[in-house]
Amino acid sequence: MAEYRVKRAKPIAAEMSVPGDKSISHRAVMLAGLSNGVCNVSGFLPSADCLSTVDCFRRLGVRIDALNSDDTPWASASPGAESGPTKLRIHGRSMQLSAPSHDLDCGNSGTTMRLLSGILAGQPFAARLTGDASLSRRPMKRIMEPLAAMGAEIRAEGDNGCAPLVIQGGHLQPIRYTLPVASAQVKSAVLLAGMFADGKTTVIEPQATRDHTETMLRYFMVKTLRSGHSVSIYGGQVPESRDFMVPGDISSAAFWIVAAAAQPGAELVMKNVGLNPTRTGILKVLIRMGAQISEVLNDVDQCEPIGSVSVKGSPLRGTIIEGAEIPNVIDELPVLAVAGALAQGKTVIRDAQELRVKESDRLSAVAHNLRAMGVDVRELYDGLEINGGGELQGARLPSYGDHRIAMAFAIAGLFAEGETIIEDVACVDTSYPGFEADLKRFQSRQITGSTTPVISSLPLPPEPKTKKRKEDAREFPAQSKSHP
Ligand code: S3P
Repeated sequence: MAEYRVKRAKPIAAEMSVPGDKSISHRAVMLAGLSNGVCNVSGFLPSADCLSTVDCFRRLGVRIDALNSDDTPWASASPGAESGPTKLRIHGRSMQLSAPSHDLDCGNSGTTMRLLSGILAGQPFAARLTGDASLSRRPMKRIMEPLAAMGAEIRAEGDNGCAPLVIQGGHLQPIRYTLPVASAQVKSAVLLAGMFADGKTTVIEPQATRDHTETMLRYFMVKTLRSGHSVSIYGGQVPESRDFMVPGDISSAAFWIVAAAAQPGAELVMKNVGLNPTRTGILKVLIRMGAQISEVLNDVDQCEPIGSVSVKGSPLRGTIIEGAEIPNVIDELPVLAVAGALAQGKTVIRDAQELRVKESDRLSAVAHNLRAMGVDVRELYDGLEINGGGELQGARLPSYGDHRIAMAFAIAGLFAEGETIIEDVACVDTSYPGFEADLKRFQSRQITGSTTPVISSLPLPPEPKTKKRKEDAREFPAQSKSHP
């Protein structure tokens, strides 16, 4: 099994970029595939998850040509080919897909399975969606309930509402649906189904989640309405085909941003990264912890904001991450927990029980691995309490088959005494092909480009006060919760 061997980072002075955004790449394939013509998608993330979406759409009759960034046909064997296609030419089917002759394999990708279910709910045929062992343990009732309420026949073959899913789509009714959990995937599944319903479908979210689906629908000229925490879509519209550029993934950039923020004197410029405000909570948290960070938007006219993030490392201090901020940093919490371990004082993460139903139980995985590195950490039913600032010890750590756990602990290894070994790292291809090469550069200091950071000087924030909460005594595993 492939593993990473990580040693302490050299002083960081880097200018770099990361591969395309995973959430946006999935949505670009889906909306382009439903559109009324040909769309060129550049900056596509050729990771295992997004390639699962491409594979499913091809099985549904959508022609997708894979290209290199210079427009030559992509083939893994061709000289100079990139690790995967970063440009796709997608031939839209004007909302009408074809019945697949095989199961649709969503691999490890929750986004593929949940969003695709919304689209299949409106197609007049049956399809069966499967996934790997991790995806087959993740909760699907959360999409089955609203899609059934709209009129789709949807059945889970796994235990307790888990995949495989069998969907017989058809004529849909619009609904007004309040999400029981703050989930962009569930919101998106209902909005995509709403495209096939007669009338106005509305989703109300308890807290704002990433808005890439609504943003991209608007870009493809599909009318949506936002009012406070509700988003509506009118059925019967066909997306207008358009070219689209995917920005770099802030969730992948987060690993290097944390590494630079936690190394006093480090300087990092992350270029061409997505700066959608529903995704940049990581920057706000790190600024609260004492990092000096600034964002500069590129002057480009396209639907998702893209720009640069400059980071100057400083001694960090602990913070509290909870409530409405959680959906905005949901994928960054493992690496923010590592930042907490490197910061002086206490970092508390609450209201994050959703982390238990990601690609692994990320609360338990993070607690286990931090403890193995010598960190004082308490696992709560909905979060973590980390007493940071001590020396991290190199250790042999499991990845739990979870890309974000593998990468978060590779970053921890850059700050540890001795060697850190992360086991079973093939999962990193889920979201970040090329991570290992970037990791090597951080250890050998062969980092690309010159550094011309624009750093705003921010004062160190005051020490956070930990609010006493009634449920503090509820330490995991004393409490077990069921998930919708
Ligand atoms: C995603 C939404 C989030 C996130 C996941 C991608 C998306 O999941 O954790 O990595 O692309 O919509 P939830 O909707 O389950 O919170």
